[in-house]
Amino acid sequence: MYSFSEAVKGLRSSAIRDLMNLATHPDMISFAGGMPDNELFPLKEVQEIVAGLSVEEQQAALQYAPTIGYPPLLKELEQWLKRKGLPVESNHLIITTGSLQGINIFAKLFVNPHDVVLTENPSFIGALSVFNSYLADVHGISLDGEGIDIDQLKLALALNPKLLYVMPTFHNPAGISYSLERRRQLLEVMNCTSIPILEDDAYGDLFFNNDGASLHTPLKSLSEKEQQICYTGSFSKIFGPGVRLGWMLLSDDFYRKAELCKQAFDACSPSFTQVLAYRFLASGKLDEYVTKVRTIYKQRCDYMVDAVTRHFPQEVTFVRPQGGFYLWVKLPKGMNEKELLKATIADGAVFVIGSTFDPLGADNGYIRLSFSNTSEDKIERGIRIIGNRMKQMIIE
Ligand SMILES: Cc1ncc(COP(=O)(O)O)c(C=O)c1O
Repeated sequence: MYSFSEAVKGLRSSAIRDLMNLATHPDMISFAGGMPDNELFPLKEVQEIVAGLSVEEQQAALQYAPTIGYPPLLKELEQWLKRKGLPVESNHLIITTGSLQGINIFAKLFVNPHDVVLTENPSFIGALSVFNSYLADVHGISLDGEGIDIDQLKLALALNPKLLYVMPTFHNPAGISYSLERRRQLLEVMNCTSIPILEDDAYGDLFFNNDGASLHTPLKSLSEKEQQICYTGSFSKIFGPGVRLGWMLLSDDFYRKAELCKQAFDACSPSFTQVLAYRFLASGKLDEYVTKVRTIYKQRCDYMVDAVTRHFPQEVTFVRPQGGFYLWVKLPKGMNEKELLKATIADGAVFVIGSTFDPLGADNGYIRLSFSNTSEDKIERGIRIIGNRMKQMIIE
């Protein structure tokens, strides 16, 4: 018998994953995936970029890149982040293989087995899996409509955590964005500590209302002690997840060690897509594209909120998203989300149950509905299916 590592021994296939395997029928209406819509990808722009690459760029695209990234992309991305108000000059940028790699690198810097990692509850399943892979004791802190619970955060500091992972802007799965006040309160608490903060901003560009400062200003731009914060972002939602590119913006304190970790992971991120991303950014086409998809995602979100209001029982509650991909719905009291999912899969609609995003996998009475990858007519039909089943379960 082979002797697998402790981390791998802890991995289990969940009943829910088995259930999701049933949900692959081509007619299934899916609100499950946290992905962009294939129909929205900038295919024409990519074709034009590829056709216009110089010989040097084509060669660079097939060559290894420096571990920290393809230099023209680093330069262009620095300017882009600077325009968004991030403290680029006092920090370093590393291009990563998706922002999930940035989370993995940052966790590797700090987490030994049984160290405490603080996250929000609910939190991004990909990050929870990373922390679990380092055998961390993940401690979740509740969220409300304004952000993380500050009293719980203060209490959790007594656990001697190694890092705090947060997603203050257009949260996955909770759909909320921290208020400016809550951002400031979090920083006030954390600035008195030397606990590193990992700020995941995978959805920050997908705002529905450009209200400026309040709902999508990164913590790293607000903090007086910004060196404490590693900021990660991604091309996945603003270009395509298939390019597998993200970034980390981090201070001197973390940078050298992070670069060494990345070297051991994959030497460099894909050069081919780094060249594409550089051209997409430098031509101004990325900004045009993000403006376009923002409008579409907002329409889909409005449409889903409207459909939920019409078809779900009135006992459900949710916070209306101001950006991002997700609607996080609290079910009527006592309704079991697994039973609901089983029933709606039989009727042709699928979503993700809330326990998937609980650090301990506990049931929480929520479901996550993604509106990013579903057209309006499918939203109407799928939400009606789920609503009918909910009403039926209330009567039974
Ligand atoms: C909150 C959050 N962070 C990070 C990621 C990872 O994105 P990627 O590795 O594709 O950049 C995702 C993907 O869904 C996400 O939802």
